[in-house]
Amino acid sequence: MDSHKEQLQSRPRFSSRLSIIAVAAGSAIGLGNIWKFPYITGKNGGAAFIVVYLCCIALIGLPVLISDFIIGRRGGGNVVSSFRSLAGKRSPWLLGGFLALFGSATVLSFYGVVAGWSLEYIVKALSNEFAGKTPAQVGEMFGSFIVSPVEPIVYQLIFMATTAGVVYAGVKKGIESFSKLMMPVLLGIILLLCIRSLTLPGAGAGLAFLFKPDFSKLSAAGVLDALGHAFFTLSLGVGAMITYGSYIDKEEDLATTAVQICMADTVIALLAGIAIFPAVFAFGVEPGQGPGLVFVTLPNLFAQMPGGYFFCVLFFVLLTVAALTSSISMLEVSVAYVSEDLGMSRKRATLLLTGLISAVGVVCSLSMGEYQEQLTFFGKNVFDLADFAVSNIEMPIGGAISVLFVGWILKRRKVNDELTCNGKRKVPFVGAFLFTAKYLAPMGIAIVFLHSLGLF
Ligand code: PHE
Repeated sequence: MDSHKEQLQSRPRFSSRLSIIAVAAGSAIGLGNIWKFPYITGKNGGAAFIVVYLCCIALIGLPVLISDFIIGRRGGGNVVSSFRSLAGKRSPWLLGGFLALFGSATVLSFYGVVAGWSLEYIVKALSNEFAGKTPAQVGEMFGSFIVSPVEPIVYQLIFMATTAGVVYAGVKKGIESFSKLMMPVLLGIILLLCIRSLTLPGAGAGLAFLFKPDFSKLSAAGVLDALGHAFFTLSLGVGAMITYGSYIDKEEDLATTAVQICMADTVIALLAGIAIFPAVFAFGVEPGQGPGLVFVTLPNLFAQMPGGYFFCVLFFVLLTVAALTSSISMLEVSVAYVSEDLGMSRKRATLLLTGLISAVGVVCSLSMGEYQEQLTFFGKNVFDLADFAVSNIEMPIGGAISVLFVGWILKRRKVNDELTCNGKRKVPFVGAFLFTAKYLAPMGIAIVFLHSLGLF
């Protein structure tokens, strides 16, 4: 047996059905749901944006997720070697793997910054700094925190070091136990927040904002945001789900797992919206203010809740852990590649990559403060630019590569084997899936791109 095969056989596998769902959902559910979804919904005018976003999840995100899983499990390696073993050594499809490596590293660079904010908010919550503050004062607090040149970077680096520690400890031990514990508690707190938010005077305006679509508010850029966020929130197009796919047991039902992940992810995002927007309107916070929305609104909401101090601390702890289960999946993409294909030890690869990615993250953080002027390109600071370039451009392209590869290149028999667990399960929708992967999803991505360029 050659060493590559040996290595693949010794790759860790997730132990049970719950584990793979928990771990992949752990990657999907994170800051994307609780921080980014509400803020871009606010920025793009609410309900109409959500309608487009939900369509993107169902028609594009789900088939891409299934395709990523198929490529990973069938290819059995990291994001590059999976494409290599399925398409051949010199195939141009390998570029898809390299693109994903670049994407996963870039996304982690700014993700680590936001996770650092969440970490710092644990400290603020513990020391009761939000007590007695008006929403405007909490807003000022957030604003002056993120522009400071040192503090956010310290927290970002602590977060990145933690991510590295978990990735270094290995897929199985590190990640599984974390994910299983965390999700239900996080869900519980979000539900409590929803109840409190919905019972505030003036909550109705928030609900209308979320659920009464007005398509005149939605721009072409908003449609691209919706598509990009569908990829971001499901961890698609950057190799995370391909890498995790390679750890999934052959007996697992990929399609059902993918559907469950999409549903769990969407429910959490919508609940986060229901927790935040009624409060935004009740407190008179600006819904379109950008990345600070959640950090400005929630502390005030907790302040109006019995046991608010305790729940606020717990919430930011869990948000940070949710971010961690996502960030480890991002780092795992390049660590798996560098350690398996370039022959570096896992430890060295983890250290080296974490260092590089954190350095870019430091630039992202600085681009929001004092150095904003020097660090602004194409009208966006480096932080926004990294987010835009990955979420709205790289991820949809990476996702298109996955569906096109599974739809057109991979033999139908192999796709069938993967979806039916080698014929052990009856799966009536293989044909429908292939049709979506071949035509619908790639065309959807192309249409949104052309639309955003004003060509459609
Ligand atoms: N899906 C994660 C979130 O919603 C972010 C993520 C993107 C994770 C890409 C892995 C890869 O927070």
